Amino acid sequence: MAFSVGVLTASDRGSRGEREDVSGKVIAEMVSTIGGEVTSYRVVSDDLEALKAAMIEMADREKVTLLLTTGGTGFSPRDNTPEATAAVAERQVPGIPEAIRAYSMKITPRAMLSRATAGIRGRTLIINMPGSPKAVREVLEFILPVLPHGLDVLAGDVADCGLPGQGDVMKKKE
Ligand code: MTE
Repeated sequence: MAFSVGVLTASDRGSRGEREDVSGKVIAEMVSTIGGEVTSYRVVSDDLEALKAAMIEMADREKVTLLLTTGGTGFSPRDNTPEATAAVAERQVPGIPEAIRAYSMKITPRAMLSRATAGIRGRTLIINMPGSPKAVREVLEFILPVLPHGLDVLAGDVADCGLPGQGDVMKKKE
């Protein structure tokens, strides 16, 4: 399934051009393996209002199907990404960050320090990830296989998602 992806990197230093956005590149590379194409890409400061504005723009005007953020999920006073996501989301998606933290805790107990969240705005699924390229890789390896089904449901393309067999068979609307 081909779908559009927005990448939003939250980084004060990145937004000033003082740090290369390796995590953004990792995201673009990895989503392409499941048919995701990065159609929108921004590096924004950690300002709450700047993050909200970027998310709204990418969801409402650019209409990306999946908006992946990286950075700004920790405890620093400047970490505002979860608050921005919660503010712009119309529906919360607690299961994704719950699953990410549960999985990530097997890799590092520091995973409990990420306040990452996820939500839906219109037809856009927004998912926060931590800032490091290592964390982004770990998180995406885990969540990417599940996302196409979630995005199909969000698009209204799935009439019945009963899960016979391996859990990967679904009936589509005529
Ligand atoms: N999750 C995974 N899978 N791998 C990691 O290395 N790092 C943690 C956590 N989540 C990490 C992780 C650390 S050290 C922090 S401080 C928080 O994410 C928040 O990261 P952020 O401030 O870059 O968003």
